[in-house]
Amino acid sequence: MVKKDIDWGNLGFGYQIADYRFVANFKDGKWDEGEIITDSNIVLNECAGVFQYCQACFEGLKAYTTEDGRIVCFRPDLNASRMADSCEKLMMPVFPEDKFVEAVEQVVKANAAWVPPYGSGATLYIRPYMIGTNPVIGVKPADEYQFRIFVTPVGPYFKGGAKPITIRVSDEDRAAPHGTGNIKAGLNYAMSLHNIVDAHNKGFDENMYLDPATRTKVEETGGANFYFITKDGKFVTPKSDSILPSITRRSLMIVAEKYLGLTVEHREVKLSEVPDFVECGLCGTAAVISPVGKIVDHGKDICFASGMEDMGPVTKKLYDTLTGIQMGTIEGPEGWVHEIMKED
Ligand code: PLP
Ligand code: COI
Repeated sequence: MVKKDIDWGNLGFGYQIADYRFVANFKDGKWDEGEIITDSNIVLNECAGVFQYCQACFEGLKAYTTEDGRIVCFRPDLNASRMADSCEKLMMPVFPEDKFVEAVEQVVKANAAWVPPYGSGATLYIRPYMIGTNPVIGVKPADEYQFRIFVTPVGPYFKGGAKPITIRVSDEDRAAPHGTGNIKAGLNYAMSLHNIVDAHNKGFDENMYLDPATRTKVEETGGANFYFITKDGKFVTPKSDSILPSITRRSLMIVAEKYLGLTVEHREVKLSEVPDFVECGLCGTAAVISPVGKIVDHGKDICFASGMEDMGPVTKKLYDTLTGIQMGTIEGPEGWVHEIMKED
């Protein structure tokens, strides 16, 4: 298999059209078998549920090439079950979890030429999603749906790769208490667009959302969970019913405890205690681990001891261990690394 002629090392986090995608349709109460197709366009009725009442949810995971030439992905079963949770909340039919993992395998195999080589710094981003496809005009769920997975090779989510980023404390909310913050609904991201453009225009990389009820506790950013490191080396990560249960964060909690021997605290984190931490990072599929150098709270700078040049020492260990597991150089816990194929 000949790889695509791409400057892998200089990719940003963008979309390019790969050769194949997986598509399955739900009609008359059941999913069809699904197939790999080449057409990257979708033609839908103007009144389709997704266009009217935003019935859409999605997932994100990555495929990696390991040093010994295998193409693998990371904990796809957790993406399948999180998508099932999203579907249930949005009144969409669940795409069976085993079929979800098989569809990921099929689409990655079909696009093997697009999977970045080991050591290139790039990965293949996999985007499963579901939309309501038939016309809906009264406010109600659609009857027909499409589940689709496309892939696109990507580099770092934040420009500058592993350089620490700057975040501001947001005045807008991302998700309501008892709302949709804990599922991966497209509408959560629509709600964050005004705020991320405003943050970028003002020189910040991301927004720190607080709990909307009291605005005193740290939730997450628009696309990643937070973790903090205390002076005495504990790993602390915010707990709330309105943040997305990040697969990377759940994995890091295990890496921190089992691989690095750190005490892990999954608990409410007050904004007022943030200045006491020595390191801060974002974690997610796209973000991987992105060190945070500074948080700006309405003109007041909270600077972490790790500074703006390099990752802090604990973040570096977390990053090396997590990416080592994902790329196959460190043995991960049973079932984390899911082999899709061997390269020929
Ligand atoms: N939080 C939000 C709002 C996200 O969009 C993402 C990305 O998926 C994450 C957290 C990180 O989740 P994961 O680690 O499962 O990619
Ligand atoms: C991911 O990390 O997969 C996401 O969906 C987050 C998004 C900001 C790209």
